[in-house]
Amino acid sequence: MSKFLAFPKEFIWGCSASAYQVEGAWNEDGKGPSIWDTFVHMPDHVINGESGDVAVDHYHRYKEDVALMKELGLVAYRFSIAWTRVVPAGTGAVNQAGLDFYDRLVDELLKHKIEPYACLFHWDLPQALQDQGGWPNRDTAYAFAEYARVVTERLSDRVKVWMTHNEPWVAAMAGYFAGEHAPGIKDISAAFRALHHLLLSHGLASEAIRAGAKQPVKVGITLNLNPVHPVSQSKKDRDAASRMDVILNRATLDPLLKGTTPIHEFAIGKLLSGSLIKPGDLEKIRTLDLLGVNYYARTVVKHDPKFPVVAASQIHPEGNEYSGMWEIYPEGIYELLKRIWKDYQPKCDIMITENGVPVPDGLDFDGRVRDERRIRYLRNHIAQVHRAMEEGVLVKGYFHWSLMDNFEWALGYGQRFGLVYVDFKTQKRTIKDSGHWYARVIQENGFEY
Ligand code: FCB
Repeated sequence: MSKFLAFPKEFIWGCSASAYQVEGAWNEDGKGPSIWDTFVHMPDHVINGESGDVAVDHYHRYKEDVALMKELGLVAYRFSIAWTRVVPAGTGAVNQAGLDFYDRLVDELLKHKIEPYACLFHWDLPQALQDQGGWPNRDTAYAFAEYARVVTERLSDRVKVWMTHNEPWVAAMAGYFAGEHAPGIKDISAAFRALHHLLLSHGLASEAIRAGAKQPVKVGITLNLNPVHPVSQSKKDRDAASRMDVILNRATLDPLLKGTTPIHEFAIGKLLSGSLIKPGDLEKIRTLDLLGVNYYARTVVKHDPKFPVVAASQIHPEGNEYSGMWEIYPEGIYELLKRIWKDYQPKCDIMITENGVPVPDGLDFDGRVRDERRIRYLRNHIAQVHRAMEEGVLVKGYFHWSLMDNFEWALGYGQRFGLVYVDFKTQKRTIKDSGHWYARVIQENGFEY
């Protein structure tokens, strides 16, 4: 029998996006180059040689896009600010024209009663800072805090919720260890150093935002988190899963919520931690008013000595549906929320800041996009969020990834995550069936399940 899953009155329904993935205008109005601009303009980094040079042209079409958000009834919109628009060389001169864009965007959102959630870093580090070592260089953390101060000065009279980083783990590991993301470096010790400095910069920027804010604000961070399951119950596989859990989840959760670090559990971490983590760093990092959780999939692993650091590798189990990028596993979002609640007893707010699915979809003969699989995904995942809430986890909001189809990093434009379909040639936007479904959920503050 179906049941209406009702959400609390003040529940925040939103969508998330990021600067590089939607804005385009990569070199306009004084913007400096970021590591993503450099990365995509080199061969073999992105499928089909695609880039975010134009993306979905949100820089010029933001009014139309905010109107779409309004049509969906969004309560909030989480976007990121491109550091290189504001401080083109990473440090030094401020580019007022870049700040003006975010000023206009925030005003447009507020005009439509949509709460802006501003994220300061979604992976697009100024190239000038990468040239001086990037995140593995501790100075970058201080440069980030200064950039945070500049943005706070301009926007904090209107922006009340601030996220310092989006998925620092991915920025460090995909960028400096796997080399699949900008800046394309493959060096494990650089990746560990990058991760620590990203976290440190969260602490430093939080301080700067709170000190400069023109009204009471909330400052948080968004993490990619995955429940890790062993492929079998053998001791070897279970140990492999717990090592993978340290690197995937505890490496960010422990410092942020407990003020401790588990990195010395790995030989490389032990080697680095003495010189890397300075006295006082962990105290600075442990500061959060809001924890954003991004959930896409679980990680199933087996013991695998060939794989560096964790001696574990990922396997793709049979039995569930898969999307263009991952296994579809709705219970994982419930498991994750329960685990955070139990292991960390967070005092801060918790929200889902990303959740979504890339499944093939497109315009049907009549111009409609019937993306039934995305609707199913959304129903099943949001129902699991509701289940965690019924069992006592205080979840304040849910942000879907993403409002519109956009540039999916190294995978280019092939993976469509939007509630709104974008024809990348004409930039025409069409609300998909999933978008209409989400709009109804927001309006009714729940759904029949
Ligand atoms: C997350 C990123 C976001 C998007 C989704 C699919 O890891 O934060 O930019 O690429 O994955």
